[in-house]
Amino acid sequence: MARRTIATLVRVKDENSRTAWEAMATPAPAQPLEPEALAATARALQLIEQEQRVPGVMATVQDPFACLLQTHCAKFGASTPLPGARTLEVKFDEHDAIRWAASAVFTWWKRITRFRWAEPASLAGAFPNTARVAVFGDWATGLYGAPEVSRSIVNEPAGYQLVLHLGDTYYSGDRDEVDEGLIQTWPRAAGAIHRALNGNHEMYTGGEAYFEAVGREFGQTSTYFALQNDHWILAGLDTAYSDHGLHGAQARWIAELLAQAAGRRLVLFSHHQPFSLLEAQGPRLVAKMAPFLKDRRVFAWYWGHEHRCALYDAHPAWGLLGRCVGHGGFPYFRDKLPGAGGGATAFVRVASRRGVPGADILDGPNPFIPGHEARYGPHGYASLEFDGPHMNEVIRSASGEILRATQLV
Ligand SMILES: [Fe+2]
Repeated sequence: MARRTIATLVRVKDENSRTAWEAMATPAPAQPLEPEALAATARALQLIEQEQRVPGVMATVQDPFACLLQTHCAKFGASTPLPGARTLEVKFDEHDAIRWAASAVFTWWKRITRFRWAEPASLAGAFPNTARVAVFGDWATGLYGAPEVSRSIVNEPAGYQLVLHLGDTYYSGDRDEVDEGLIQTWPRAAGAIHRALNGNHEMYTGGEAYFEAVGREFGQTSTYFALQNDHWILAGLDTAYSDHGLHGAQARWIAELLAQAAGRRLVLFSHHQPFSLLEAQGPRLVAKMAPFLKDRRVFAWYWGHEHRCALYDAHPAWGLLGRCVGHGGFPYFRDKLPGAGGGATAFVRVASRRGVPGADILDGPNPFIPGHEARYGPHGYASLEFDGPHMNEVIRSASGEILRATQLV
């Protein structure tokens, strides 16, 4: 049977880390293949193959079963070291996939339940009036620009008071992936509060490994939280527990934050986007946030999920400044936009349409994807500098160079 290559690249790692998975790796005894498992596998393979356009470069899809299959293949497929890379390329044949689906992955998938939802311990924690925040999204690959982003944040001479990931640990946020992609690579800036938001990829395994890790490593006991000082409220939302929505009492909690705001400006952070010029909109999320949006109570909103950096104009109806900073570490193809595709790193203008404000979108090569630099967009992150009532936004390359600095207020 022909071998196929799927987008399952993993870092070279200690073989001992496989131990916990031995039971799952053991092929099941001959048993009838469930039609549902076969259908799910066929669909997942098709999705992955459609997305895997460049051999040897990580790709993924927004499908729980396909991501679980990728996670499983990354652990147990026959792997080949890629020349000059810190990755293994895992190849599998259809027989392997079907066997796994029937024996392990399908059973795993069917047993997944979401982690137990937790409310924040207090309405909002304290935050200094002069503070710097590092924000990066879709970063937890442990590969490409992600380690460079981490180094750059840790080595920032001015330091950070909050280090915040906007979610997505690939492929499905299982225990090994959270440990390697999120925790071991994490920028442990001294003295900072560390927070990681929930993303759809963490939820493909139910989010249990992610939630346990952020509690243990960061003292983060809920997946949504707020920090406030005399001038600002920074609120991180969980938009993944209910996919691209707002689970539980988060909308009421935002209302309570605003009721006690006393003139403070609100900045939101989430994994998913409320709107987009280039991908899907977030109607369920927007519906939950509608009262605050219509009353223009949100000053700025930073999100990931889309793997690019997009700086939107003020929203015509809601006034807020939308920012996508989902270019933290996952390989993404450069958008085919007028003015894009050159050798320089620059912002490209995209006009407003259908009520979505216009935006400047970051374009350029990615030096962290060797052999394919020109096809992939740059990795990077944002630094937010709060000084009393003022907020300065700095968009940085993965290595920390300033690409754009804007005094927002
Ligand atoms: Fe995502």
